[in-house]
Amino acid sequence: MEFISKELDRYCNDHTSSECEILSALNHETHTSVLNPRMISGNLQGQFLTMISRMLQPKCILEIGTYTGYSAICLAKGLPASGVLHTIDVNEELEDMTTRYFKKAGFEHQIVQHIGDASLVIPNMDLELDLVFIDADKKNYPIYFDLLVDKIKPGGWIIADNVLWSGKVIEELDSSDKSTKALLEYNKKVQDHPGVENLLLPLRDGLMICRKI
Ligand SMILES: C[S@@+](CC[C@H](N)C(=O)[O-])C[C@H]1O[C@@H](n2cnc3c(N)ncnc32)[C@H](O)[C@@H]1O
Repeated sequence: MEFISKELDRYCNDHTSSECEILSALNHETHTSVLNPRMISGNLQGQFLTMISRMLQPKCILEIGTYTGYSAICLAKGLPASGVLHTIDVNEELEDMTTRYFKKAGFEHQIVQHIGDASLVIPNMDLELDLVFIDADKKNYPIYFDLLVDKIKPGGWIIADNVLWSGKVIEELDSSDKSTKALLEYNKKVQDHPGVENLLLPLRDGLMICRKI
């Protein structure tokens, strides 16, 4: 399900700053040589992530779901000089490509890549997080929230992508659809949690933004 018409989407893109050369090359290479290029954040969401990161100037960011590194670079643009972004992906095949682009973008010393299942990697991370971007396997979103909530600083933020799941969150639930079930659980968990304030923003496939009080 598209939430806005193609024409409005084009209008929004036409009135949004363009990708820098490096992100444009990364976007192109992802679309020409990597499986499932639809997974990339793209310019509209990428500019949103950059703006949020520039506003917050986070010292420590965690991303779950590196893929080809597009959103990691967008988020890293807001890091102060001493800031670090940790990014986790279970797929090791894209590591050479992401390393190449992190270097091109000048973030090779500020982005730390972790290869592995995020639900196993996160418990071993001793981090105090200012900002988290969750953009990986949907079935684990509720687990990620539970693992992360104590690692976020008061006043820190979690942004989770795809929480509207092409509109499936308001359709009749197919009991075998684990992703939709987990996203419904994630959205309810955040909504009911007394320690956060939250906004479900219908940008692209839905971003749940929450701030730890
Ligand atoms: C939607 S893509 C991420 C897109 C990226 N954030 C961007 O905007 O360009 C999801 C990624 O999550 C990774 N992933 C899936 N399950 C995972 C898990 N359990 N732990 C870590 N990464 C996982 C996939 O390999 C994939 O690269």
